[in-house]
Amino acid sequence: MNETVIECREVETTFAQSLNRPILNRVNCEIRRGEFVVLLGLNGAGKSTLLRSLVGLTPIARGGITVDNIPMTPQTLPKIRRQVGMLFQGGGLIRQLSALDNVLCGRLGLRKSWQTLFGFPKQDQRLALQLLDELGLYEHAYQKTSSLSGGQQQRVAIARALIQSPQILLADEPITGLDVMAAKQVMDTLAQLNKEHGITVVTVLHDLGIAAEYADRALVIDAGRIVYDGDCHDLQAEFTQISKAAKR
Ligand SMILES: Nc1ncnc2c1ncn2[C@@H]1O[C@H](COP(=O)(O)OP(=O)(O)O)[C@@H](O)[C@H]1O
Ligand SMILES: [Mg+2]
Repeated sequence: MNETVIECREVETTFAQSLNRPILNRVNCEIRRGEFVVLLGLNGAGKSTLLRSLVGLTPIARGGITVDNIPMTPQTLPKIRRQVGMLFQGGGLIRQLSALDNVLCGRLGLRKSWQTLFGFPKQDQRLALQLLDELGLYEHAYQKTSSLSGGQQQRVAIARALIQSPQILLADEPITGLDVMAAKQVMDTLAQLNKEHGITVVTVLHDLGIAAEYADRALVIDAGRIVYDGDCHDLQAEFTQISKAAKR
């Protein structure tokens, strides 16, 4: 069994008046190195909040998060963020910038501002182009991202996350809104990063079939709690139960 790379212990966010509970309500989970884990749940369950908390974008009120054996604190957060790449829901690209410049933005955290004042260093540019090439986007490097297809944009976002060589990749609904072919390309890319480069992948998905096809394990979150942690074979039954409970 591989070592644990992400651990959440009793993670609780601050109380949300609108929900009458914390958004994350005592979340416990472990992700092991090299795993491909899918995070599932109905809208509003807390999936995005959980992913964001893993890179310190949602402050937690109680409990603890450990990433790569480093307990998360304001002091350790920069170090943790260098290990973790994030694909935000909706891509989060800057539409008017080229694919290449968007990828280079992934490097901003590592460069001092004076180093980018007159453009990014040549080595960063080379690396960004290489990543775009590996993701099949070489000929689109100088194109504005707003003019790329949804699937291409998502792959630009992947390249942007990869430029900091993360060990862990978090992806929030990376295939929502994509057609079947584009979705397959993006999922295959995540699978390749996982299998060939050993990157630990945690991704939010909505499609149970795709989850079962790609993931080693599923975490199902409902009303801010993990309600299922296990293999992907019987997810439909799990969801039927959650949906019934949600209607009550
Ligand atoms: N910054 C915030 N302030 C208050 N409520 C929030 C905030 N962010 C999310 N929420 C609420 O928390 C719940 C979980 O949101 P989210 O994590 O985005 O769910 P999911 O990604 O599973 O759809 C939702 O009810 C949402 O309205
Ligand atoms: Mg979400």
